[in-house]
Amino acid sequence: MDTTIQLVKMATERSPEEIVPFLPDVFQKRIRQDAMDADPANPKRVFHMGSWAGTTDEDPFVKETRTFNEGALIWKSFFERENMKTVIVFSGAGLSADSGIPTFRDSGGLWENHNVEDVAEHEAWFRDKELVLRFYEQRFNGYKDCKPHLGHEALARLEQKFKVVHITQNIDDLLEQAGCSDVRHLHGRIRSKKCEWHKDITTLDGDRKFVCDFKAEMIEPVKLGELCPKCGGQMRPDVVWFNEAVGNLNYDEMKDWCKEVKYNDGIFICAGTSVQVYPAGYMVSFFSQVKNKFIVDRKPQKIADYELIEGNASETLPVLVDRLMS
Ligand code: APR
Repeated sequence: MDTTIQLVKMATERSPEEIVPFLPDVFQKRIRQDAMDADPANPKRVFHMGSWAGTTDEDPFVKETRTFNEGALIWKSFFERENMKTVIVFSGAGLSADSGIPTFRDSGGLWENHNVEDVAEHEAWFRDKELVLRFYEQRFNGYKDCKPHLGHEALARLEQKFKVVHITQNIDDLLEQAGCSDVRHLHGRIRSKKCEWHKDITTLDGDRKFVCDFKAEMIEPVKLGELCPKCGGQMRPDVVWFNEAVGNLNYDEMKDWCKEVKYNDGIFICAGTSVQVYPAGYMVSFFSQVKNKFIVDRKPQKIADYELIEGNASETLPVLVDRLMS
């Protein structure tokens, strides 16, 4: 298959972020022009762009799902985002507290007289799966009806002016519910389940049994006896426990974001975390080289020259966001 055809296929099947690194400059210029000219009121207008990101009729190579306008607008918003300043929001349990989700350490960290660390731990699973599943069933049910608060909504508003990336330790989906579009869950998601032998699970001793690749959305809490359809292992919540590695933190990417924030006069916000669990402390020190940076917390700790914003996230974040947007 020649390069052009491959690129056409990629442009229709993948996001601009994924494909741009492979695009020769001349194509980028052309697409940028076409995307900026895209006219939602006139979808019939023929753009070169159409064959890249949307139309099908004239292009035998593209078995297409996106319509022309969808494709053009995705690229347009990509090019607009490129010129925006970057905001990285790193969050923890305190961000969700005002939505009714208890934090870990404010309650003394106890659940049914067990330390949370003893239930949400890799070894705990092999000691007593039923206990661990009961803990997560309660958490799943507790999260089910929670709604985003004004702080989450304010963070979603930032996307009107900035390119925003959320890195959260929270396993709820309140940021997504509020409309935040780029959310990375360091500790997994409560609405997802995986096989107990999933290859994402990296243990400290490098145990080689973790090879399965089965994951699914969790509609109901996992029960003991619910087995993986691929390998027969017991299903478990798709969260990261103590003594398991935080898998989806890519250091190179973090370094790049830090550089980007530093050089495009962007912003780092650390919201509602006690900064006690790795990699929180690391993130906060790492981003201290950025000029515009805030710690938002009910009881903020003094770290480097961060500006401290004290109070409940549902009250302080809307004020901070208004300030950043003005
Ligand atoms: N608004 C803002 N901050 C708040 C609020 C609120 N309404 N309520 C509590 N906080 C702050 C607390 O002062 C504390 O600094 O939120 C922080 C919560 O800290 P933790 O309970 O330690 O939660 P977190 O930092 O997210 O824990 C990290 O530890 O147990 C593990 O995997 C679990 O993801 C979790 C990780």
